[in-house]
Amino acid sequence: MVEILKYDIVILGSGLAGLRAAFQAALTSKDRLRIAVVSKLHAMRSHSVSAEGGISAVLYPKEMNDSIDLHAYDTVKGSDFLADQDAVELLVKLVPEEIRFFDHLGTPWSRRPDGRIAQRPFGGMSVPRAVFAADKTGFFMMSTLYDNLLRFNNVDIYHENMATSILMENGMFRGVTAIDMATGEFRVFLGKAGIIATGGAGRVYSFVTVANSSTGDGIAMAYRAGIPIKDMEFVQFHPTGMVPSGVLITEAARGEGGYLINKEGERFLKRYAPQKMELAPRDIISRAIMTEIKEGRGFVQEESGLEHVLLDLRHLGEEKINERLPMIRELSKKLIGVDPVSEPIPVRPTTHYTMGGVHTDTYGQVMLDESTRIPNLWAAGEAACVSIHGANRLGSNSLGETVVWGRLTGEAAAQYAMRTPDTVLQVSSTLDEAIKREESRVFDKLLHVESAAENPYDIREELQTTMDKKVGVFRDQRGLEEAWSTIKRLKERFSRARVENRTRIYNNNLRDFIELSFMLDIAEIIVVGALNRTESRGAHYRLDYPKRDDVNWLKHTLVYYRRGEPPSISYIPVRITRWAPEERKY
Ligand code: FUM
Repeated sequence: MVEILKYDIVILGSGLAGLRAAFQAALTSKDRLRIAVVSKLHAMRSHSVSAEGGISAVLYPKEMNDSIDLHAYDTVKGSDFLADQDAVELLVKLVPEEIRFFDHLGTPWSRRPDGRIAQRPFGGMSVPRAVFAADKTGFFMMSTLYDNLLRFNNVDIYHENMATSILMENGMFRGVTAIDMATGEFRVFLGKAGIIATGGAGRVYSFVTVANSSTGDGIAMAYRAGIPIKDMEFVQFHPTGMVPSGVLITEAARGEGGYLINKEGERFLKRYAPQKMELAPRDIISRAIMTEIKEGRGFVQEESGLEHVLLDLRHLGEEKINERLPMIRELSKKLIGVDPVSEPIPVRPTTHYTMGGVHTDTYGQVMLDESTRIPNLWAAGEAACVSIHGANRLGSNSLGETVVWGRLTGEAAAQYAMRTPDTVLQVSSTLDEAIKREESRVFDKLLHVESAAENPYDIREELQTTMDKKVGVFRDQRGLEEAWSTIKRLKERFSRARVENRTRIYNNNLRDFIELSFMLDIAEIIVVGALNRTESRGAHYRLDYPKRDDVNWLKHTLVYYRRGEPPSISYIPVRITRWAPEERKY
């Protein structure tokens, strides 16, 4: 008998977006609603805890010569004019309120000597506006939010519950199916309203900053449920992944004054972004590093064979490094034996962020096309594409997105649930059938098969290396076509792969297997979007189409799942409110 748990709101994902949504829904409903947060991890292991450098907000406009409009303009320009400008305007208006909200909750923001909240420079921002807590900003925001959330009796957090599908019926969200990893039991969370907040999909690549858990589950489940996925060809490569692991060296290291140096000892960014230098946006710096490497001005690390440049922090001095970048120093010493106080850190671009995601409107409500909304489903954070980042996110805008849209979607879902009767939580025969089909797919088809014809871990490795090699900082038609045929072949092999480990309790092989099914879909969505988009914009750079083409491509990609057929693609316009596209110069 499948366990059915009934809630007013089901939130999938427990990072900053999911927890902020739960918090706002709990506040809005004043104990009247029951809220479930369903996470495949322990909530405090969600990838948001890894965010390092900061969250941008306009706090002191006069003193810093800053304004809400300037933050919006920087973001739109950073996005290479693909962001929806009404959404950007909402972000920059609300994010200062979120900084104060977290301050009241107790987040230990780093302070200026006068005791007020400090701000540091970040790439593509005209003035220093990234609020931070040393270089562990995400960890401190998560800790305060999680601790404060525990005070609500009407929020149940289901840690280590791996979702397998999103249930839809008659165009409405009904709930999610999941495996309780501790017992291996299959269960269903039914909800009057749902919020997808499962984070990004960086793990479809191999050289990455992101946790093993960033496999795009919510995006892939939405896709399979018929929801279009927007702008996935725009994958962010962070310029400074530590070599050889890809671990993030925060952009704050450059915000605090670090230099990037090539083999000739040059600060090579003078050739690519003469005004902003190391504080140009990430797409530009990542291309600059890869160009230096291609043209023979990089270093080669002997053990890994990886080509790289150097991030030099020595001139900052030990005191500043200890105060502002303590984790970077610790990571660098522990992982590669390099103390940045006395030696530069080897770095190269690494996959970091998914600009695309579940297609939503400005307020995070999930959409089926340009104008049709799903009445009771929202998405927030990296899993969603609202879209404020367009073709290239500015560093320090993602934490803002998680909490602003966590708040907005939590509020909207609560309002919806409060006016919806409990009768909608009854299980129809169609839903019952769908639940049984999913249970049988997960347990009978995957666990009860005699021998595995294909090893899923081999498939995952080939997928990740293909994405690294063919769908990276520089792309072209041939590489993308090769990547797509590899993915199709891997999907075919995956249909013959099985889980060797048959236990029910903490079957991590089963979890990995389900994640791989999601990753294969995500990789295909990225590649078809990239293949079709015959221009270069933001993080999507086509060597065969090196120019931005506003006449034909100032539009968002929507990719739809088609059972047994290649994905289908359509396009919708970008919403431009105030800033006409112009050439980006830094
Ligand atoms: O470099 C960093 O600290 C990353 C920040 C971000 O992606 O927003």
